[in-house]
Amino acid sequence: MSTTLIKNIGLLQTPIGSRPHGGKEQGENLKIKNAAVFARDGIIEEITEKGRLPGAFEKEDADEIIDAEGNLVTPGLVEGHTHLVFGGYRQHEIPLKLKGAGYLDILKAGGGILDTVRKTREAGFDELYEKSRGFLDEMMEMGVTACEAKSGYGLDLETEVKMLEVIKKLNEDHRMDMAATFMGAHAVPPEYKGNPDQYIEMICEKVLPVIKEKNLAEFVDVFCEEGVFDEEQSRRYLSKAKELGFSLKIHADEIEERGGSRLAGEIGAVSAEHLIAIGPKGLRAMAKAGVTAMCLPSTSFYLGKDFAPVRKMIEMGIPVATASDFNPGSCPSLNLQFVINLGYLKYKMMPEEILTAVTINPACAIGKGDLCGTLEKGKKADMVIWNAKDMEMLCYRFGSNLALATIKEGVLI
Ligand code: NIG
Ligand code: FE
Repeated sequence: MSTTLIKNIGLLQTPIGSRPHGGKEQGENLKIKNAAVFARDGIIEEITEKGRLPGAFEKEDADEIIDAEGNLVTPGLVEGHTHLVFGGYRQHEIPLKLKGAGYLDILKAGGGILDTVRKTREAGFDELYEKSRGFLDEMMEMGVTACEAKSGYGLDLETEVKMLEVIKKLNEDHRMDMAATFMGAHAVPPEYKGNPDQYIEMICEKVLPVIKEKNLAEFVDVFCEEGVFDEEQSRRYLSKAKELGFSLKIHADEIEERGGSRLAGEIGAVSAEHLIAIGPKGLRAMAKAGVTAMCLPSTSFYLGKDFAPVRKMIEMGIPVATASDFNPGSCPSLNLQFVINLGYLKYKMMPEEILTAVTINPACAIGKGDLCGTLEKGKKADMVIWNAKDMEMLCYRFGSNLALATIKEGVLI
């Protein structure tokens, strides 16, 4: 039994509840000045305004006492979309990009994702494990306490299983709470070049059932994009995944509008990701079905693309989450604080809406809304003490790590 008191919180700010927040609710946060949080065995027992509701912890007799020194405290950030595990890097693509080669041109020529596939197939388990573990440490230092991680750089049974086993072991060993997504339909592998239908059939018959049997992923994701997998192929693959009991995600309308967001609504996906090129039909389908929009502004920044129409989404009541998309190609950054800055400047979200987008909404989209994403009695004592007095400061300053301390289940990291 261990207890923690986080005292002297200048402002505690948090969304409330365990379900995705859309529309007006996206911008509703609870704000308590001069707060304190008391946790027992990693779970929040009481949140109080010092002096007004004297609880047991006013005596300051907790095993660990953490002084927030008058700063802002929020829930630990939840990273809803990463391609965390990969071999090698792709810095050699930048000169090609600067000369005008597009993301999909590089992929078509056998580079891009396929380059990382070659390096991930070659890499051993330990190498991938150590590298990804380092990324998780970095994320936690920057305030992230839960994250999603995808496979999808194997594109064969053996390597996809290897990647998901790395994620599984990291989830066991590291303090980070993780959700695993199988993304076998990330690209068409060289063995099936020109035959995406056959590849989809192969993963449906030979890979998805194995991932299920080994219990290696909760989610299944597909890259529904021009020259990768079309709407019909994505539908077949996701339908099979649904039949097997997986929850669904779609990389939709990232570069071109190809029906992915419409399909997300139709098939009942938990979230659709990217959505840079989403049109009115996709927006309506997502709003109707309550699909969360996982928007990835660092990828827009890095690819030099437009930014997803987030204000429109909020207007239509679609819950918006924002995440990094950390991967070696379109976004070699795991900095969720930069995502906060871009949410403010490019998506024109309000600070309260942004906090919802990096806490409870992604928590729900990765199946952890009951455990984390808000600061409330009964949830995990996952929080960040910021080098800031309010969310406005966090949205405004960029480039520095403003997380003074990350607290994971009541323990100072
Ligand atoms: O979400 N678009 C597909 N997948 C990743 C990029 C993967 C890569 O380029 O390695 C994304 O942007
Ligand atoms: Fe992605």
